[in-house]
Amino acid sequence: MKKTKIISMNPEHIDEKKLAEAAEVLKMGGLVAFPTETVYGLGANALDEKAVEKIFQAKGRPSDNPLIVHISEIEEIEPLVRNVSERARILMKAFWPGPLTLIFEKSERIPKRITAGLDTVAIRMPLHPIARKLIQLAQVPVAAPSANLSGRPSPTCPEHVIEDLQEKVDIIISGGNCSVGLESTVLDITEEIPMILRPGGITREQLEDVLGLVVYDAALKGDPQAVPKSPGMKYTHYSPRGEVQIVSGELEDMVETIRDLQKEKEALGLKVGILATDETKGRYQNAIVLSMGSRKNVASIAANLFSALRRFDQEGAEVIFAESIEEKSLGAAVMNRMLKAAGYHVIFAGGKKD
Ligand code: TXA
Ligand code: MG
Repeated sequence: MKKTKIISMNPEHIDEKKLAEAAEVLKMGGLVAFPTETVYGLGANALDEKAVEKIFQAKGRPSDNPLIVHISEIEEIEPLVRNVSERARILMKAFWPGPLTLIFEKSERIPKRITAGLDTVAIRMPLHPIARKLIQLAQVPVAAPSANLSGRPSPTCPEHVIEDLQEKVDIIISGGNCSVGLESTVLDITEEIPMILRPGGITREQLEDVLGLVVYDAALKGDPQAVPKSPGMKYTHYSPRGEVQIVSGELEDMVETIRDLQKEKEALGLKVGILATDETKGRYQNAIVLSMGSRKNVASIAANLFSALRRFDQEGAEVIFAESIEEKSLGAAVMNRMLKAAGYHVIFAGGKKD
């Protein structure tokens, strides 16, 4: 067990002296959790294999799941990859800093431990001012997965990080809520047609606006035969302790079906959680009802999803029914995380108008 130091900081007024201490810990091979615009990250010096190993230990992360390397300026990418294509330059210009991770062929400088033996490396330049400044002060690229225990929902506020990683890391920088609330989009640009390996903060529509055709990795649909190109996508994830089931269909049918399912489970003596939306939350009674946000504002749903999943644990939900949302723009990333939390268990609420 370690003593974890918590450093509080306002992202709009960065205290460089305090941040320099965290940067020094990173440089010396320690672990620092820090806010990004997507989710909190658990950082280590990407060029120090021993430091990187500590990330896997602290999270309980499977060793075949590679890490994203974070940089603070575009030029810092040069020594880390074999070459930067024209396509990569267009994407970096359009979306960096921001929630887009790009896959490149790796250079010799990247330790194999980071890429889990792959010849490619994932790189991202975050937008969050604390993340950027920390990397800049550390003067090293920073390997950082989400700062949760493996399998748990990713952390979108400092309390989540403290809950999972207190006494496992050297420093936690507490810098408020993450504005996007879902992880970055992982885009493989080593293929002829760019492929989304993980939907996230930058949508397919946004990518297609600058690139033309972009496809999803077929494995994202939960087909047990398909092997995902992003090793992380094969693990159960984002799971609260209660069992999650998604209910899909027309809004009214969803609500009715969830109300029926609630009764069934209550009859068995189970504590029921319902993941609803602002438009529907008033339709449920006597359950743990949490709203993800408004269906008219998918960004608010993205920002709230992970903390709602964690809240169900605090409230002791044993089974959770989640309303589905439309799978377009950011909704694709929201549904991807929900499907993973539910182990792809979906109940179709077919029109039950008798
Ligand atoms: O928003 C984010 O991306 C956050 C913040 C902290 O930056 N980080 C994050 O890291 O979500 P992590 O480790 O939780 O997820 C990284 C994902 C995994 O699905 C992993 O398998 C994939 O990126 N990945 C990493 N390197 C890869 C590679 N070389 N090829 C394919 N997928 C890769
Ligand atoms: Mg993660």
